[in-house]
Amino acid sequence: MLHIFNLLSLLVALYGYSTHGFINPIKARDGSDPFMTYYNGQYYLLTTTWSNVQVTSASTIEGLKSATPKIVWTDTNPQRNNQFWAPELHRINGRWYIYYTAGQKVSDFVPTQRTWVLQGGTGDPLAMPFTFMSQVTPPNYNTGMLDATIYNITGKTYYIYASTSGGAMWIAELLSPNKTGPGILLTSPIYSWEKQGWAINEGPVGLTSPKGSHHIIFSASGCNTQYYELGYLKLTPGADPLVAKSWVKNPQPIFTSANGLYGPGHNGFFKSPDGNEDWNVFHANRKVDGGCDGGRQTFVQKVDWNTDDTPNLGQPLAAGTQIDPPSGEKSSISKY
Ligand SMILES: *[C@@H]1O[C@H](CO)[C@@H](O)[C@H](O)[C@H]1NC(C)=O
Ligand SMILES: *[C@@H]1O[C@H](CO)[C@@H](O)[C@H](O)[C@H]1NC(C)=O
Repeated sequence: MLHIFNLLSLLVALYGYSTHGFINPIKARDGSDPFMTYYNGQYYLLTTTWSNVQVTSASTIEGLKSATPKIVWTDTNPQRNNQFWAPELHRINGRWYIYYTAGQKVSDFVPTQRTWVLQGGTGDPLAMPFTFMSQVTPPNYNTGMLDATIYNITGKTYYIYASTSGGAMWIAELLSPNKTGPGILLTSPIYSWEKQGWAINEGPVGLTSPKGSHHIIFSASGCNTQYYELGYLKLTPGADPLVAKSWVKNPQPIFTSANGLYGPGHNGFFKSPDGNEDWNVFHANRKVDGGCDGGRQTFVQKVDWNTDDTPNLGQPLAAGTQIDPPSGEKSSISKY
């Protein structure tokens, strides 16, 4: 009797192992510039589609692969109906907002890119429609911008974005979901690893350590090169986030091509369902000469922390690696 019971539990354990967790890539096409969040039992994934804003939701990371994306925004306004990039879903004061980039259908479209915000409902993100609010731009800034994110630091909310001029990133205080204070130039490419192909800092995203230190992770170099990679700025404890020198750039990148993934970058971070772990969602090419297009795929893996309280993103794990799910992820079969 006992050995049959043991065999059964072993089979259940093996079955649980093989069906729980996930295998990258999560999106094999149009996986660029991914952003994820977890809310009330569901993961929400957004990526660049170029033609609209879409949200995919599922209760497991593996489930995101087969879930049907929901188109939450399309536009006919010629100021902003081209090149939809880098959508991010954020909850502010109990309501959902999507920040995204879009511009005009002209041949030199990059300088026309601006960032915009949609307003959603207060419950589950896809339970109510998203409606257009406005452009979001600092009053002292009037040129092209992309990749806006928001980040809370000691009770204030900040708006961080990339400029289409100078490959620089800017920061402003977000005073309401669609209004910011004056922007300041946060950082520009300085090291050679930030200048491969193009000299660019973009795709900013905030990451707070378990001990409370603040980082802005960003992508550097040309997205069409294998040198596209992640670096970070660290906020000097107690310093004003709206002063550029409060942020110290790590002299080295922290996430670079490896294991058959090229140009890993433009990432997002999300918390595990139980709130205890940080996870990285990023895109990468599978070919060394992949472009900045829909061939980029979405990958997910865990973030670790170094003893000095800096982020340890590790190396990109090879496609096909079996990865344990984020802690607290519900599965129909219990995992041993
Ligand atoms: C950031 O702050 C806003 C305003 O207090 C709050 O509504 C929001 O939930 C916070 N976001 C995060 C990720 O903590
Ligand atoms: C914020 O959005 C509201 C509603 O669309 C709009 O009336 C207001 O002008 C916007 N504010 C800014 C600063 O764009």
